[in-house]
Amino acid sequence: MNKYLIIAISIAASALSACTVADRSRALNNPNIEGKTIAQQVCSSCHGEDGNSHSAQYPKLAGQQTAYVVSQLNNFASHARTDRLALEVMAGMSSGLNEKQKQEIAEYFYQQTPSNTSLYSGDTSLGKQIYNLGIQERSVMACAACHGELAQGQQIFPRLAGQHKEYLLKQLHVFKNTHARPDTPMAMVTQNLSEKEMEQVANYLSTMK
Ligand code: HEC
Ligand code: HEC
Repeated sequence: MNKYLIIAISIAASALSACTVADRSRALNNPNIEGKTIAQQVCSSCHGEDGNSHSAQYPKLAGQQTAYVVSQLNNFASHARTDRLALEVMAGMSSGLNEKQKQEIAEYFYQQTPSNTSLYSGDTSLGKQIYNLGIQERSVMACAACHGELAQGQQIFPRLAGQHKEYLLKQLHVFKNTHARPDTPMAMVTQNLSEKEMEQVANYLSTMK
């Protein structure tokens, strides 16, 4: 509970200090503005100009699959993603964008080079094993089967390599314990993963380049 409170407070604080975002966000309803400009002037304030956000609250978008980014913008806009931050922040960010702008924004971030900012230097062998092979006796599918051997993602399967560990873990909890991201295989995938296993796989992914 505490963790969410902290996130909520820091979001509120960043909303206050982000008058610039509010000013420019009028651009979010203007079909004449290029996606790239929106990405650089609006999305960048949280996700980083090159898509490598500094705070783990905001997922990195650099190198993220275009089809995945477009699908998530649609999910935020339609309120299919019902996590509090999704509704309070991303629903508004995505609802005024047209199809062309969403595609251009996604392409802009896909073209940015993902940075690796993980400070984790511990053992990643178990996380790597789960990622590549799953856990057969508990019917946990291999993550690599959908997210790719290098965790680079494909189409609607997101890139996971180099993502903030805390963001990965948060989403694994969302899939496992809530209905805030419905209709994906991830509910089934996370069902039999323990807390420790999720942590190990998130550590491994955060260190991938
Ligand atoms: C005020 C901060 C803020 C701004 C500005 C912002 N975002 Fe986000 N974005 C977030 C947060 C917070 C999340 C994580 C939501 C969650 O945890 O469910 C997110 C999540 C996302 C995701 C999901 C990524 C994933 O890996 O699942 C995409 C895609 C995204 N944002 C795109 C955009 C685009 C495109 C823009 C500009 C039109 C934008 N965001 C502007 C805060 C922001
Ligand atoms: C059957 C295919 C499939 C398998 C296997 C799979 N995933 Fe996924 N994963 C998906 C899809 C599809 C999404 C996007 C969900 C959405 O659209 O909301 C996703 C999303 C995610 C996300 C959210 C990423 C983000 O940026 O928000 C994480 C984290 C994740 N998967 C981790 C894993 C891990 C760890 C494993 C292995 C234990 C795994 N996945 C196995 C299909 C799969």
